[in-house]
Amino acid sequence: MKNYVLKKYGKPHVLKIENTPEPIPASEEVRVKIHRIGLNYAEVQSRKGLYGWAPKLPYTLGMEAVGTVDLIGESVKSRKVGEKVIVGCQYGTYAEKIVIPEKQALTPIITFSDDENAAFGVNYLTAWVALMKIARLDPRDTVLIHAAAGGVGTAAVQIAKNYGCHVIGTASKEKKIKMLKDLGIGMAINYEEEDFEKFIRQKLKGGVDVVLEVVGGNVFKKSMNLLNPFGRTVVVGFASLNLNKFNPLSWFRTWKDIPRSKVNQLAESSTGLGATHLGYLLKDESLLNEAWDELVSFTVEHRIKPIIGHRFDFIDLPKAHKLMESRNSYGKIIITLPTS
Ligand SMILES: NC(=O)c1ccc[n+]([C@@H]2O[C@H](COP(=O)([O-])OP(=O)(O)OC[C@H]3O[C@@H](n4cnc5c(N)ncnc54)[C@H](OP(=O)(O)O)[C@@H]3O)[C@@H](O)[C@H]2O)c1
Repeated sequence: MKNYVLKKYGKPHVLKIENTPEPIPASEEVRVKIHRIGLNYAEVQSRKGLYGWAPKLPYTLGMEAVGTVDLIGESVKSRKVGEKVIVGCQYGTYAEKIVIPEKQALTPIITFSDDENAAFGVNYLTAWVALMKIARLDPRDTVLIHAAAGGVGTAAVQIAKNYGCHVIGTASKEKKIKMLKDLGIGMAINYEEEDFEKFIRQKLKGGVDVVLEVVGGNVFKKSMNLLNPFGRTVVVGFASLNLNKFNPLSWFRTWKDIPRSKVNQLAESSTGLGATHLGYLLKDESLLNEAWDELVSFTVEHRIKPIIGHRFDFIDLPKAHKLMESRNSYGKIIITLPTS
């Protein structure tokens, strides 16, 4: 089968297709023939060797996909050959087939296309856990979402908006600002051109109640300044951190830009800081299942559909990585594999 085995870290061209044997499922595993892959920023960071929750080289990148079960282990009870499933995993979806534990083969949303199901799991669950479980959103909240036109960003905008919140989003390009306005966002700010902290203070005559932070550095610092009393910031990523392991200055810059706060500062402002990472949550199956069920009900009830910004063929996957790190992508990037 065709398989992007990552053998060394580097630019997108290190992603090269190899032919490897088809994997065989163990007793409690299923094998899935992949039709669509959902791209995640964490995979760009993994490709560069900058992602903590990644296995050692060589391995196949990819955390989510949609496909059809084509072989099952002898003890598998919940899945049948021929069933369509969403795949959620730590790595391995940049290939024609993958083997996963049966519990990581999830039921797709029936009203979604394959593209939409491949765009759903990681982004929407991250946004749901951050906003609903950690920030404990209230419909009266004003919510600031950074990189709002991206995968997690658009998911968070849709969830917060449908929950009744006033939603503000930041993005770095005018075409993304337009896209956010088309999504019906309350306010969209180009944070490469405007000082978003000043802009929000002027427009709202106050701050915000909840921040979903994915950028790090000054974006995090200004976001903490903007919190109203009882406000909550939830950090789910730091996309701007770009460690060059061979440059001591880069280590210092990275250390300086990692989001952090002091308890006395939080006490003085009566604000909270939280963070989440889906990978580590995988350890607690019941918590994750509960969050997933709530998310799916909310999504179906509010007729939310993932925004697909770009599609690439499997062979062009390195181009998709290049686009994602260029900051020119919006919504989710989907990789298509031949179905026959
Ligand atoms: N904690 C978790 O479990 C979890 C799960 C999924 C994702 N995440 C995190 O959530 C964030 C979004 O992930 P995603 O997969 O949905 O990606 P994405 O938002 O579709 O793409 C990344 C976005 O980050 C923004 N960005 C800001 N500074 C950047 C920089 N210096 N270089 C590149 N991009 C920069 C860009 O938007 P602008 O150009 O508009 O700023 C870019 O489009 C990432 O930080 C990711 O690591 C966390």
